[in-house]
Amino acid sequence: MTRVVYVNGRYMRYAEAGVHVEDRGFQFADAIYEVCEVSEGRLVDETQHMDRLARSLAELRIPMPMSRRALGLVLRETVRRNRVKTGLVYLQVSRGTAPRDFLIPAGGLAPTVVCLARRVDAAGREQRAASGIAVKTLPDIRWGRCDIKTVMLLPAVLAKEAAATDGAGEAWLVDAEGFVTEGASSNAWIVERSGALVTRQTGDAILPGVTRRTLLDVLSRENIPISERPFRVEEARAAQEAFITSASGTVMPVVSIDKVAIGDGRPGALTRRLRTLFHQFAELSDQYHPR
Ligand code: PDD
Repeated sequence: MTRVVYVNGRYMRYAEAGVHVEDRGFQFADAIYEVCEVSEGRLVDETQHMDRLARSLAELRIPMPMSRRALGLVLRETVRRNRVKTGLVYLQVSRGTAPRDFLIPAGGLAPTVVCLARRVDAAGREQRAASGIAVKTLPDIRWGRCDIKTVMLLPAVLAKEAAATDGAGEAWLVDAEGFVTEGASSNAWIVERSGALVTRQTGDAILPGVTRRTLLDVLSRENIPISERPFRVEEARAAQEAFITSASGTVMPVVSIDKVAIGDGRPGALTRRLRTLFHQFAELSDQYHPR
């Protein structure tokens, strides 16, 4: 349950928190966001999330609303006020509020900043990881700058809905050439029969996932071969193992793609190992006890 929400400098009660009806995030999806895992009350990979937030803002020419240190305090205070030990913290920055006009007002606007934190059902998540999830493939109908973490998430919403209708826990999006770009809200990985991992290289077509980046470090430390290249749906269906990565699920096994079992239809051994290793490598912030 979210009890307190940070909105533009104030901590407000959930039921009363809101932004202006002419916020450009609301009217144009002119906003970016970050989702950061909270583990033991600490932020996981905060530095990378802040780096990506700064990059997304710069790409859209939205000014940083406050210093990184101040943003870090907002994240921590929101986590603390909601008493989140295991969960997620969500930070959104929109360009700000102005009478509806496609053109951005000269001189710019004061960005809108919203932060919420909530607990996740850790037992439920572990259960999902133990059984693995099904994936459904769908055409990638998103725009050409998927590397920017904007709130323009309607294609992801529709894809995940279509997947859920088919009993799948994630949608894998497929480009015009038949290659998987990424999950609707995760990065996509397969394990070749040789034991090497494959995930698409970063670029305009995918979000450079923080979990993806940390996992690449894990692989290099563990000397596990990795190839950053596109892969086709057929290759994925014939893979030894498959999984997705995201802040909300870390390393989540995929056991079927379009109802075709992957490997023996159970979470793969390497995937399970990487899930365990992930938190040993991820950066964990300080614990925060002001006041
Ligand atoms: N989604 N690709 C897309 C399209 C995503 O939306 C996400 C994250 C990722 C994984 O990135 P990271 O490892 O930094 O979480 C990849 C978040 C969790 C969300 O929208 O809820």
